[in-house]
Amino acid sequence: AGVFTYDPGFTSTASCDSTITFIDGDKGELLHRGYPIDQLAEKSHYLEVCYLLLYGELPSAAELEKFENTITRHTMIHEQMHNFFRGFRRDAHPMATMVGVVGAMSAFYHDSTDISDPRQREIASHRLIAKMPTIAAMAYKYSIGQPFVYPRNDLDYAANFLHMCFSVPAERYDVDPILSRAMDRIFTLHADHEQNASTSTVRLASSSGANPFACIAAGIACLWGPAHGGANQACLEMLKEIGSPDKIPEYIARAKDKNDPFRLMGFGHRVYKNFDPRATVMKQSADEVLDLMGIENNPILATAKELEQQALADPYFAEKKLFPNVDFYSGIILEAMGFPTSMFTPIFALSRTVGWVSQWKEQLADPQHKIGRPRQLYLGNTIREYVDIENR
Ligand code: CMC
Repeated sequence: AGVFTYDPGFTSTASCDSTITFIDGDKGELLHRGYPIDQLAEKSHYLEVCYLLLYGELPSAAELEKFENTITRHTMIHEQMHNFFRGFRRDAHPMATMVGVVGAMSAFYHDSTDISDPRQREIASHRLIAKMPTIAAMAYKYSIGQPFVYPRNDLDYAANFLHMCFSVPAERYDVDPILSRAMDRIFTLHADHEQNASTSTVRLASSSGANPFACIAAGIACLWGPAHGGANQACLEMLKEIGSPDKIPEYIARAKDKNDPFRLMGFGHRVYKNFDPRATVMKQSADEVLDLMGIENNPILATAKELEQQALADPYFAEKKLFPNVDFYSGIILEAMGFPTSMFTPIFALSRTVGWVSQWKEQLADPQHKIGRPRQLYLGNTIREYVDIENR
């Protein structure tokens, strides 16, 4: 037997080397290919960030145009996949539908399941980035009993997603540019986050040589949990349950009580121990979007701000270095835009697809990569003789 380092939750074990994303948790810094997230959120846009994550450099104008055209060309899904959606219960959570449908892409796009061919790997990554908004929007439409809306390639990535979610055949729908800008920023803020649980899941799945659609479906499944991407839904539900600022002390007391499993959702992070730079931009965005939409005195936003203040002033949160994370304010914007809470995590999934795909491509291109195969610390019985059933 060998000697293994036991590191529960992988708090100090690097699983790979990477040149994509850098996080300095003490400084509250997040860099994609060296560029700070706040600059990207302010000056760039989602598809440009996708290009940066995938190819390592900001694109020239011509490169960006070509990339946008390529992604746009892949926005539709195979028509037969509609049947797949219809197989789900009508009240299925859109994440459940997405796990299934994205896995099923392996059966519809056989050509790009060939991971030995770099050209097919490229096509798979474009297909995933292009089709994920279509799949997320269809999962939503199905869950509310409305007809699927086909993508519109004259719209940009975020506007097209809003169109597929909110337009109906019976009425003209014009995408509000304020909303599409806010949507794009939410996509950008979620694009990648180095070796988080879902990305590590994608890498581990892919390490066996599994096809990209199966790997990304595994990532979506992992993201769903409330400690990870599911936190945005859980956070807004918590803020609604709190209801008004006077109830906050009760919830803070519960979060501090070790006998109560309740945690403040949208608070705390494995790596950030100062602040989450994505949360800073998200908070600012929440203010801007609600203001631009003419929503004044939003009670949920007021509760969130007061909760943040009271938690930050509390020694428990200060000592444990717990700060609002990206999920704390995103739900408020998404709700103001008209999304139900069940769509929050699917939106995270579609935004993170580029991160998963970039990391998957990086892994396959790494000559050192091999199957991920953690060892264990065995605490069970030592060898013993089998006992016949009549003697037990
Ligand atoms: N509320 C109250 N206490 C908390 C919280 C919280 N949100 N987060 C951590 N703690 C306490 C925890 O009880 C523990 O206390 P002690 O040392 O006394 O046992 C200590 O802080 C350290 O927590 P941990 O669970 O060991 O830390 P972790 O690095 O394993 O977990 C986390 C990180 C994000 C899972 C956790 O902070 C959490 O559950 N937060 C709420 C869920 C959430 O918002 N998740 C979104 C994360 S960011 C986006 C994403 O990844 O998708």
